[in-house]
Amino acid sequence: MKSLLKFITCGSVDDGKSTLIGHMLYDAKLIYADQERVLQLDSRLGSREGMIDYSLLLDGLMAEREQGITIDVAYRYFNTEKRSFIVADTPGHEEYTRNMAVGASFADLAVILADASQGILVQTRRHTRICSLMGIKHFVFAINKMDLVHYDKTCFCRLERELKKLLVDFDYESLYVLPVSATEGDNITSRSQNMPWFTGCSLLEYLEKIDIAQESLEKGFCMPVQRVSRPNHTFRGFQGQVESGKVHTGDEVTALPSGEKARVKSILVADKESGTAVSGQPVTLQLDREVDVSRGCVLVNGMAPPVSSMCTAVLLWMDDSVLVAGKNYYIKAGTRTAPASVMNIKYKIDVNSGEHIPAERLYKNEIAVCDISISEKIVFDKFKENKALGGIVLIDRVTNMTSACGMIEHSLRRSDNLTWHKMDVGRKDRAEQKGQKPKTLWFTGLSGSGKSTLANEVEKRLFAMGKHTMLLDGDNIRMGLNKNLGFKEQDRIENIRRVAETAKLMNDAGLVVLTAFISPFAQDRRNARDIIGGEDFIEIYVSTPLEVCEERDVKGLYKKAKAGEIPNFTGVSSAYEVPADPDVVIDTAGGSLEENVDKLMKQLEKYL
Ligand code: ADX
Repeated sequence: MKSLLKFITCGSVDDGKSTLIGHMLYDAKLIYADQERVLQLDSRLGSREGMIDYSLLLDGLMAEREQGITIDVAYRYFNTEKRSFIVADTPGHEEYTRNMAVGASFADLAVILADASQGILVQTRRHTRICSLMGIKHFVFAINKMDLVHYDKTCFCRLERELKKLLVDFDYESLYVLPVSATEGDNITSRSQNMPWFTGCSLLEYLEKIDIAQESLEKGFCMPVQRVSRPNHTFRGFQGQVESGKVHTGDEVTALPSGEKARVKSILVADKESGTAVSGQPVTLQLDREVDVSRGCVLVNGMAPPVSSMCTAVLLWMDDSVLVAGKNYYIKAGTRTAPASVMNIKYKIDVNSGEHIPAERLYKNEIAVCDISISEKIVFDKFKENKALGGIVLIDRVTNMTSACGMIEHSLRRSDNLTWHKMDVGRKDRAEQKGQKPKTLWFTGLSGSGKSTLANEVEKRLFAMGKHTMLLDGDNIRMGLNKNLGFKEQDRIENIRRVAETAKLMNDAGLVVLTAFISPFAQDRRNARDIIGGEDFIEIYVSTPLEVCEERDVKGLYKKAKAGEIPNFTGVSSAYEVPADPDVVIDTAGGSLEENVDKLMKQLEKYL
């Protein structure tokens, strides 16, 4: 079997990277005859006055051709006699950082282009940094447009020296620098006559022979479970791809996170019995005894990745909406998906200089080191050691779109050393003793909508009915527990998180809790529901319109906010996201307080 090399090409708009790969395919006769004809026809209309424009081969997308730039990741497959290749061609401009990262995440080697006439630019450093962040360890630098500098050896040597110096900062295994001309075909598929002083081989020859060490075979065995297969009573097999190492029948494997051990009874590779399976193969494993394994678990042998609920990771932000600390997502690591939140942004990394910059927010295409908290213990590993378990994505919980991709740096030990202590007197016992169902009545609405007033009246009624209650009110809590928080987005997220955790504790104590917080963001209310538990969380939307709240202006805050004296004031200079599907809605604009409370109590009856 021919070995496969997956590589990425990086270069800026005018570096000529599509031309380089196009020329390689053309010279090596790796294009189809009909493609060749189209190419010649297209070139007549193109920018090279009838000469073949090799970049047209690579630009898979129409829009690219129209704009003359590459806007997505174009993948090409080709074979030579010696090797199979997949090349990802990605745009180089800073606003396409994420496209490059996606291309780099799949590649083993990067071909980075620099323009001989321009030298090593900031973008060359950026491309190198992104590739390195995404785990690439093999680098080829093609110094292009050598024809424009008259194939000058001194110029090449200077740039080569500069590049070697640049690479000192990165963790790499191989480096090859060569002079080329993509348009003229120098050193692309064969050695150039124009540069006899260069003794190295051509780009294609190098790509054919470079040994991307199969180090994953030497590592321990690791297989994230994608699926449990149970075609009948007698068969229970675990399916997934072997991500590193090998496995033989009879080997002992450990199932994580449970830690249970079992021996491998049989191995199926593509439905055929096999005594062994190696890294890269999709397999079905049968074990000799029952173990607790489901999708997202990992089978290992000879390695012990951490099982933890907190980690530090480098994130590349891909979402249009910004990241602020406290926001919730789903994390996907290996085959496991779980709710997670970004606890804090430690610092941003300047993609051009590598500098660490303190930051409160992360925008699209930016890179930062963040601490992530996961709702349960999952199996992951350092990306440097284990790409399969160390590469993560964060997924938006509403749109299901990928918000970020990332690389785990390490687990946070503070979470590893905590164990949940089960107490003898439980939530149920405390609730039964009080003869009630603990619930959280979550009032949300604009400032002045009547949340506190309604919550206060409802508590009085419940109290009179003999219920054990507690009321948590925005202004009051902000004078105590949350006095260190303001009204910026991340502060509000933390405000609501703490209140939800407190309400949950009080529910655990058996109490009916009423909360009155603006809680303007849908995601935070959803998070509160997750913390408290869907069954016990009742969302009450106090829907009094903004005009009425403004007119009431009990605390005079709307007036101040409109005069610009209060920044981030909800309804004036900060948004209120109306609940999409509240359990109860009440508008206090009409009717007396008593009528409104009667209406509310009626709606609440079924929950209490
Ligand atoms: S929340 O948005 O984080 O849920 P919370 O309910 O705790 O807000 O606090 C809202 C109360 O703080 C308001 O009723 C008002 O009295 C006061 N407040 C002071 N500044 C602001 C502001 N910028 N936006 C909203 N409320 C504010």
